[in-house]
Amino acid sequence: MLKIGSVEIAMPAIQAALSGFSDRPMRVVARRYGAEFAMAEVVLDELVTRKGKLRDRLLKIGEDDHPIGGQLMGSRPEQFGEAASDLVEGGYDLVDINFGCPVKKVLGRCRGGFLLSEPGNALAIVKAVVDAVGGRRPVTLKMRRGFDDSEESERNFFTILDGAFTLGAAAITVHGRTVKQRYIGPSNWDFLARVKRHVGTRTILGSGDLFTAGAVVRMMNETGVDGVTVARGAIGNPFIFRECRELLEGRAVAPPSVAEQREAIEFQFGETLKLYDPVRAGAVFRKFGIAYADLHPMRADVRQAFINAKDFEALRDVLAVWYDDRREWPPVTPREGLRDLIAAGAACNI
Ligand SMILES: Cc1cc2nc3c(=O)[nH]c(=O)nc-3n(C[C@H](O)[C@H](O)[C@H](O)COP(=O)(O)O)c2cc1C
Repeated sequence: MLKIGSVEIAMPAIQAALSGFSDRPMRVVARRYGAEFAMAEVVLDELVTRKGKLRDRLLKIGEDDHPIGGQLMGSRPEQFGEAASDLVEGGYDLVDINFGCPVKKVLGRCRGGFLLSEPGNALAIVKAVVDAVGGRRPVTLKMRRGFDDSEESERNFFTILDGAFTLGAAAITVHGRTVKQRYIGPSNWDFLARVKRHVGTRTILGSGDLFTAGAVVRMMNETGVDGVTVARGAIGNPFIFRECRELLEGRAVAPPSVAEQREAIEFQFGETLKLYDPVRAGAVFRKFGIAYADLHPMRADVRQAFINAKDFEALRDVLAVWYDDRREWPPVTPREGLRDLIAAGAACNI
């Protein structure tokens, strides 16, 4: 059981915040296959507080999309506080603060990962959010393991970590890469283990390089973190949450059949069409389709078919041809990590 303040989550692998991906369709398909908690995409504080269509859309959450975390990015404590309060009133079950985004434009505006180099301002933001939320919902943080590999950066990390818990943060997610590192090189799981030892009973979620259910279970075992956020590993693979549950319960894991893949794709695509106009829906879904192809027994052909599909009618054709129930498909082979795990018969003793 993962507990984040008042939010109780029985399956400790949650859907991560993923800008450009973790929209409502991705969240609800993740829930359908076992995720019990999902994070929305990061949003700029000023877009939450500014009246308009975007704000209305951000603050409209479906009944089937709970519990959900809203994540804010910005640089000014008062504005962060105001936006946090709006998220609570809009129905978000948790408010998360982004101190991790490594995008150049974001850093240039002193937001996201930049704040890891300014512990004073970072903690002023945490205090403003905690005060504004006023105990109505848990407040959490997302951090990278530092701005860079310097000793000063590490000191800043721990100043923010400890300070945020003292101010009332309910949990902190740590991505084991630095801001400078962006996505190059591995996430440092040893650092995650150190953080967990350092905070004792406080709640830490781990992030980085969780592409299979086996990796999720390994991170939990090796680092002692209380939960994990599944990010790139859930794009086009909502089944990872079902597999996490199965592995954590010591059950054997089977990769999703082509029919199951079709069911997930149809569901997510249907939700995408409800949210966006058909042209945008096609563009939004295509990148998921390309990722789903990786689960298919004929992954190279299916991947190419999704790449070639330029509109939503073409996407429907890919489904009709490559996910046809009447065809005999070769057996689905698990993705690499899972294959190792099954081959080793490890499923039962993790
Ligand atoms: C396309 C993309 C968008 C992301 N958007 C967010 C975001 O909005 N908020 C956030 O805290 N992290 C965001 N992240 C970081 C992920 O949540 C996660 O920490 C990171 O990808 C490491 O996990 P992974 O190696 O398992 O993918 C994003 C990552 C990617 C690749």
